[in-house]
Amino acid sequence: MTTTVNQPAATAPGDIRTTPAIEAHGLVKTFKTKSGENRAVDGVDLVVQPGTVYGVLGPNGAGKTTTVRMLATLLRPDAGRAEVFGYDVGRHPQVVRSLVGLTGQYASVDEELTAVQNLMVFGRLLGLSRKAARARTGELLEEFSLTEAADRPLKDFSGGMRRRLDLAASLIATPPLLFLDEPTTGLDPRTRAQMWDTIRRLVSEGTTVLLTTQYLDEADQLADRIAVIDHGRVIADGTADELKSSIGTSTLQLTPTDRNHAARAAEVIEQILSETATLSPEAGRVTAPMRRADLMADILLALRSENIAVEEMNVQKPTLDEVFLTITGQPTDDQSDSTTEEVNR
Ligand SMILES: Nc1ncnc2c1ncn2[C@@H]1O[C@H](COP(=O)(O)OP(=O)(O)O)[C@@H](O)[C@H]1O
Ligand SMILES: [Mg+2]
Repeated sequence: MTTTVNQPAATAPGDIRTTPAIEAHGLVKTFKTKSGENRAVDGVDLVVQPGTVYGVLGPNGAGKTTTVRMLATLLRPDAGRAEVFGYDVGRHPQVVRSLVGLTGQYASVDEELTAVQNLMVFGRLLGLSRKAARARTGELLEEFSLTEAADRPLKDFSGGMRRRLDLAASLIATPPLLFLDEPTTGLDPRTRAQMWDTIRRLVSEGTTVLLTTQYLDEADQLADRIAVIDHGRVIADGTADELKSSIGTSTLQLTPTDRNHAARAAEVIEQILSETATLSPEAGRVTAPMRRADLMADILLALRSENIAVEEMNVQKPTLDEVFLTITGQPTDDQSDSTTEEVNR
């Protein structure tokens, strides 16, 4: 039986500077299990603009890898359709493959070969000349601090080194769209920071990145837009700021110059915000939930008319952790069964 993956859709090849890097609608993937069926991806829609980082944020088992594999033509969707720079993944898989790079959670490289040999193989497979492949290999080993390990076989590599080699391999030929599937899960903080720098550099050079992550701060730091995914569904999407402000409340923190004014300042703030303010007498700081940012000016004017000078004031948006908790009703710290090889070192 042949399954028709793609509805007839216009798949005019796009200009990669203006066509969405990814446009997916209603992606579904069901896996057969002993106990029935597992709808791993359950109707995912995504639009990723070129030149941006799109974060797909979700806990273990949410369907992130399955989604990425469908977008990268490695897995056939059961329903829905997806285009990469205007090319339908089902109808033009070769073109799509030439436009994307993919790093997996697990290195797809040969254990017996050295780092140099692995990168050379990838370079040659991608059609680089021997000379070009050698030059690129040297650059990438340098960039990912693997020069010293260049001639060691991969089987002697640590988890962090493997991850870096995996990313290096996906960058042999800089593709316009890069899928980074949990590139920093289980990495030590230093390697993680290095990875973030590399991702930022790639984007500044025009690469579009789809990044999956279980880390809220990573999505917050890197992603222009974020889709929160759980049980195969996008349960929220937007910029980090939009997600933060759509749920939860910002918090106002204000410290009068004269700590003795804190109690009076708290009264003024309560009156204007119609909220209960919390007073921390030691710090002389007032904290209150702030639903309307436009009331800030009113607070400052009222305090001034009472001759209360303000030393410090800020409005704290909710963290993405709080956002996730609000959307799913579950905290995101269910990462115990994921790769944590280097997390606590
Ligand atoms: N090849 C497969 N065969 C059967 N089930 C799978 C397969 N790949 C993934 N799954 C299941 O699909 C769900 C989503 O998995 P995955 O996409 O890997 O999630 P994530 O990458 O967000 O951790 C999980 O329940 C997983 O067990
Ligand atoms: Mg995964």
